[in-house]
Amino acid sequence: MTVFKYNKNKLFCESLSILKITKKIKTPFYLYSNKLIVENYKNFVANFKKIRPLICFSVKANSNLSILKVLKSLGSGADVVSAGELLKVIKSGIKPKKIVFSGVGKSEEEIRLAIKNKILLINVESESEAILVNKISGQLRKRTSIGIRLNPDIKASTHRKISTGKSKDKFGLSRQNIISFCKKINNLKNINLDAISVHIGSQILNDFPFRKTLVVLSSIIKDANLKLKYVDLGGGFGIPYEAKDSKINLKNYSKLVYRFKKKYNCNIIFEPGRSIIGNSGVLVSKIQFIKKNKNKTFAVLDAGMNDFMRPALYEAKHNIKPLVKRKKIHKSNIEFVGPICETTCKFIEYRKFQKIYEKDLVVILDVGAYGYSLASNYNTKPLPEEIMVTKNKFKVIKKRQSLTELLK
Ligand code: LLP
Repeated sequence: MTVFKYNKNKLFCESLSILKITKKIKTPFYLYSNKLIVENYKNFVANFKKIRPLICFSVKANSNLSILKVLKSLGSGADVVSAGELLKVIKSGIKPKKIVFSGVGKSEEEIRLAIKNKILLINVESESEAILVNKISGQLRKRTSIGIRLNPDIKASTHRKISTGKSKDKFGLSRQNIISFCKKINNLKNINLDAISVHIGSQILNDFPFRKTLVVLSSIIKDANLKLKYVDLGGGFGIPYEAKDSKINLKNYSKLVYRFKKKYNCNIIFEPGRSIIGNSGVLVSKIQFIKKNKNKTFAVLDAGMNDFMRPALYEAKHNIKPLVKRKKIHKSNIEFVGPICETTCKFIEYRKFQKIYEKDLVVILDVGAYGYSLASNYNTKPLPEEIMVTKNKFKVIKKRQSLTELLK
């Protein structure tokens, strides 16, 4: 159900022609649909309706303040991994009691900030971290709720660079280490073990690894005789980027989580990122130059890996669509590439694409998650603008970085 549709050969976002926006805003820019963000969030809630989970949007997927405010208005909490994300989330109005803090290497400063703000949970990833949280809590005369992150040693069947739940990955504690740690935790007087958290990876398109994780969790809860307020099941629900990608069906998993919740009498937390924001954003870009070599035509865009990193980092495929549709087909293969001086600064190659010309405008699809948040100043390029469309109106939600700022 997309809101990016053609109307009389022009690509619209909701009821606004994207071409109209390009008359006012310089490319490249990120463009989000408010409607789709709301719809995705509501769909996620509907999938787990009976469970009534706390949804903590994973801010690393997209930390734009206006987007966080939209999610806050829908009732979302937040999963953060840095002081910056924590402060941004608090600024958006999301209450500390809806914030969980994940991450394998939180600094003392970050832990102190989280404790002072009395967030819901600090999800620790090592014994040393738990000891540090205990120590700082003591100094601040506070008692802090923590979760322990489990590494269930489960293959997430996703890209190797975004798998987090195998024992070779740096995240969390093994089943055995959690059980032995639980025996010592009573000595740490300033922390309460209120949760177990788990996150096995990202862009997962079938529910099997999630179901398997529940089994491991059950066995730990039983063996360590844990009474938990929360079980945080993380994020990782994938979205279809390419035609070959299936849509994940969460029906069975949802039933299992419901039973799990009843059995262990705990509240459930989810930390979705991509599934809430991924398909709601596109990157609007201009074809600057077209050049041909023997086998293909290169369309050199003004957006590069500095603006959108996923293809260079994970060989991710994101489809590209023209802002204005034409009937004629280009005679050769077309590869869309960016301007950065790296061979990996390229997006996608098509055998069949419509006829293109210099100055044509295109969009790179499904860039709402890990798009802007992974953008950089590589090649000393400014960060792009971010725009939000609501019905037939658009608003700048983050200004393009100026060159003056870059020169500071
Ligand atoms: N919770 C934790 C502890 C996480 O580490 C992550 C993502 C999430 C939740 C949200 O996962 P999601 O629902 O978005 O899959 N940059 C990569 C993705 C890295 C994900 C890192 N952790 C990409 O562009 O594919």
